[in-house]
Amino acid sequence: MTLNSKLAKLFNEQINNEMSSSYIYLAMAAWFEQTPYSGFASWMFNQSREESMHALKFYQYVVDRDAAVVLQPIAKPKADYKSPIDVFEHSLKQEQKVTQQINELFEVAEQVKDHASKNLLLWFLNEQMEEEKTVRDMLDRLKLAGNDSASLLVLDGEAAKRNGAGGGASGANGAA
Ligand code: FEO
Repeated sequence: MTLNSKLAKLFNEQINNEMSSSYIYLAMAAWFEQTPYSGFASWMFNQSREESMHALKFYQYVVDRDAAVVLQPIAKPKADYKSPIDVFEHSLKQEQKVTQQINELFEVAEQVKDHASKNLLLWFLNEQMEEEKTVRDMLDRLKLAGNDSASLLVLDGEAAKRNGAGGGASGANGAA
């Protein structure tokens, strides 16, 4: 079954949305690299990589459904942040925005009765729910830590362990 043209357009936009997300997280990682928080840098780097994988998953789906992939420019990401809390607040907003985008896609898939697309989008909706929860949990704990350096470093250490050991650029090389 050929992909409905409205859906094809939205899936193409979602490739761009996920690549933009990846770029936003890479800028967050780069911001943390300028601070002592190497664990948070690794967290954001891994998140950037995950968002790239999401973009590629949408890319492959458009190809598999015999529709044309049309890539668009990726916007320059925000590079200045005030604190770890500020970064995680932006991360939560970013995830909520993506959840909204995927919800909208799901609604269109439902309108045109495209069950294969709905199936793919359900996977993404579950992924979004998990991502929002993970970010919200860390944000809550960052707020609890406040300006206490020792507590912040404990959280940074935990962030380093997310997605397994070896985040950061060297970790990416190893995993490839
Ligand atoms: Fe792929 Fe977390 O948006």
